[in-house]
Amino acid sequence: MPAELSPIDMAKSNAAKYAVQFVEDGMRVGLGSGSTAAWMVKYLGERVKQGGLNIVGVPTSTRTAELAQKAGLRLTTLDEAKWLDMTIDGADEYDAELTLIKGGGGALLQEKIVASASDRMIVIADDSKLVAHLGAFPLPIEVVPFGLQTTRATVEAVLDGMDVLGWDATLRMQDDEPFVTDEGNRIIDLHLKRIGDPRHLSLALNQIPGVVENGLFIDICDMVIAGQGDGRIEVTDLTAGSIEQVFVEPDLDTNIFADI
Ligand code: A5P
Repeated sequence: MPAELSPIDMAKSNAAKYAVQFVEDGMRVGLGSGSTAAWMVKYLGERVKQGGLNIVGVPTSTRTAELAQKAGLRLTTLDEAKWLDMTIDGADEYDAELTLIKGGGGALLQEKIVASASDRMIVIADDSKLVAHLGAFPLPIEVVPFGLQTTRATVEAVLDGMDVLGWDATLRMQDDEPFVTDEGNRIIDLHLKRIGDPRHLSLALNQIPGVVENGLFIDICDMVIAGQGDGRIEVTDLTAGSIEQVFVEPDLDTNIFADI
């Protein structure tokens, strides 16, 4: 008997269930990372198993690749696919312009490369991820291990001149060791509290030698599907310039990815 899902997990599941309806036969699909994207992988796998949907997925992390294989999705690399029709991924925060903070799970580099190589990026989230101003969630940046402390000091110096409310740059740890990304790099989390000018900040961070990429996704996301636990969903579509309320029937009998 599956354990009951929390309202947040239900919200993530509902958003993912709604999002997979946008995937069409023959598409090359970027598969995001994180707990919400895991639901999307599960629902896509179900659609493929039902038949009539022949797609190929490009995973954005080793974890997603494992899940996608278990879900029965056919996978390829981005180099093989060259360009994608759509990417569906989660986010740690998004604002009204659909600028995102991503990288809470440490996969921001592959996620950004994959989303940027897609005709369309759809973000799926529980509705708590919408914020008036980005920055309460620490902004992750991926940095190379060489000269890490020097890079961190340079980042803090650069932050000093930025429109932010906090300046702490902390090395992400996992089991008492620095967290290592799929690319063999490290993550520094920037505790900024409020980001006044995401575009300026993103450009400044990416100019620092040693910084590979930052977790701000600007002009990349086209649509956000924000779920609630009861099945209500808000769809913000930048291309159509619309915000629509829809409903999806929640799945009460499944939690196979609830441990993610
Ligand atoms: C992974 O690196 C992240 O970018 C995730 O997409 C983001 O952290 C959202 O994760 P959840 O869906 O688990 O909240």
